[in-house]
Amino acid sequence: MTELLLPFDPTRDGGLTARLTTALRDAVRQGRPPAGGRLPATRTLARDLGLSRGTVVEAYAQLVAEGYLVSTPGAGTRVADGITPRPPAPPPATTAPAVRYDLKPGTPDLALFPRAAWQTALRRALAATEHSALGYGDPAGHPALRAELAAYLGRVRAAAADPGRLTVVGGVAQGLALVVRRLVRHGHRTIAVEDPGSPGTFGLLRAHGIEPVGVPVDQHGLDVDALAATGARAVLVTPAHQYPTGVVLAPERRAALIGWARRTGALVIEDDYDAEFRYDREPVGCLQGLAPDLVVHLGSLSKSLAPGLRLGWAVLPEPMVEEFRTDKQYTDLGCSTLDQLAFARLLADGGHDRHLRAVRARYRARRDALTAALARHLPAAAVRGVAAGLHLHLDLPPGCTEPAVVEAAAARGVRVDPVAPTRLALPGPPALVLGYAGLTERQLAHAADLLAEAVTEATG
Ligand SMILES: Cc1ncc(COP(=O)(O)O)c(C=O)c1O
Repeated sequence: MTELLLPFDPTRDGGLTARLTTALRDAVRQGRPPAGGRLPATRTLARDLGLSRGTVVEAYAQLVAEGYLVSTPGAGTRVADGITPRPPAPPPATTAPAVRYDLKPGTPDLALFPRAAWQTALRRALAATEHSALGYGDPAGHPALRAELAAYLGRVRAAAADPGRLTVVGGVAQGLALVVRRLVRHGHRTIAVEDPGSPGTFGLLRAHGIEPVGVPVDQHGLDVDALAATGARAVLVTPAHQYPTGVVLAPERRAALIGWARRTGALVIEDDYDAEFRYDREPVGCLQGLAPDLVVHLGSLSKSLAPGLRLGWAVLPEPMVEEFRTDKQYTDLGCSTLDQLAFARLLADGGHDRHLRAVRARYRARRDALTAALARHLPAAAVRGVAAGLHLHLDLPPGCTEPAVVEAAAARGVRVDPVAPTRLALPGPPALVLGYAGLTERQLAHAADLLAEAVTEATG
């Protein structure tokens, strides 16, 4: 006789048939019995559960109708083939400690988001907005935001950004995807990128049909001679703060890059990554300001405010604007009008500048705490890329590998990213990329101490 363990209490209130049906359905989903397995005879189950046989017959019939069970005259009731039992939850794989200090790069400190200022800006924008503005807006972006942004980018990034060439986009990711769509349409199959570079960006390029081709990066930034040797017709760069090396593109390289683009007619795509955070002096102006006819400039609020806003901008050479905006329109009909209006207010009333000044000071203190602690605990490991941004690059001392250090750090509750996944084709010495935006100075000092222990263990 087939036994079936059912979590079923017939004495509770409620429709007996419905509750029995649910209990049976759950049991079958969990593989009790497995596909093809036999259920108890209705008479048996009714007796075991103290129910009338009719209740059990009805529950079985319901599950036959739903496809969970198959009933064959003379052969009883079985679980239908193809009903795959959910695998039992795997036991916890290891007893790895929880992440105590997360040094994953790429996100600002979300606790520093200026909630009150954003709320005020949003409330004021909503109060001043006509009903008609809540309809579909201009896919190029709300004119108020384009005007504010163009002025801001001219002032802060020395960009040549008039509102007629600026389009509001859903972050650098969308801006890049739309530029790549155009390149593919115009016959491009490859694009030069920095190697090492952002693995997320490599994935995005491939997802949109273009293959990234690596160009080496040294202490001055992208190697423009090596770029020229690739025969590339377009290049994507992060001049303000390269990911992951943290290098700021040197002035002579900027000139060489623009010279190459002018000679060859190639397109330069500037991802203005981390540009808001420059610590040793005023930020270097963007590349686009040097040659607005050759450079696409992409930026976003993902570092200055929050990635969740999904708001950014693309400033394009004049001949590319119309096609880009058409693609933007057919992608999503434009970005959220209310968020655009709130951000326009924040720019207009100085709230964005105030926020940046405040967080820049916090991030500078965090960077200083981490570099000082690394110098104390890991003097043999060279730190690079600290002039700007929210991450630094740490060369590991000789004798240890990235996976060994990452694992030993994880065992101490410290999450760090290896550089290996950022390498496209070119090998390089073992290194880590450490994001310091989200931890306090004290936490960073302790994390560096634990990381040094991890390096010692991984070396020994
Ligand atoms: C190199 C690089 N650029 C830009 C971004 C940000 O993209 P978005 O503006 O779409 O948030 C990222 C995010 O991780 C990145 O790694």
